[in-house]
Amino acid sequence: MTSIRLAVNGEQRDADVEPRQLLVYFLREQLGLKGTNVGCDTSSCGACTVLLDGESVKSCTVLAVQADGCEITTIEGLAHGEELQPMQQAFHEQHALQCGFCTPGFVLAAVSLLRENPNPSEAEIRRGLEGNLCRCTGYDNIVKAVRAAAGAGS
Ligand code: FES
Ligand code: FES
Repeated sequence: MTSIRLAVNGEQRDADVEPRQLLVYFLREQLGLKGTNVGCDTSSCGACTVLLDGESVKSCTVLAVQADGCEITTIEGLAHGEELQPMQQAFHEQHALQCGFCTPGFVLAAVSLLRENPNPSEAEIRRGLEGNLCRCTGYDNIVKAVRAAAGAGS
């Protein structure tokens, strides 16, 4: 086992993990943060997307030990109490989800996208989110939500 220390949603966490433990399973099973989903385990779907030091990563492609010393944000860390983060609010208002399985990953990938490019075009949004798959929405409302959040200064 290897000892790691990281900040998850602003809270310091110390843990012992197996060196082969993936970050996504560390978050889900050791920390109980089940909002980070596993859709494929092969880095294809983006359902496991989290922010690592502010940048979106697919947490099924990162070892927990690689996150040692880092700051992780999961979907549970975005809202302030009852107040949704602007990207979450935009997904809600623009009906950008149906089953919701892909949504945490999309929201975090979109937050990261707007940090890099605060006013993306539709093409830039589609390109920026191409690593995330949704089998329900057809993507149009997701793009609308990201545009709306960009307008709101997310
Ligand atoms: S579970 Fe990580 S990309 Fe699909
Ligand atoms: S809302 Fe169902 S997979 Fe995206």
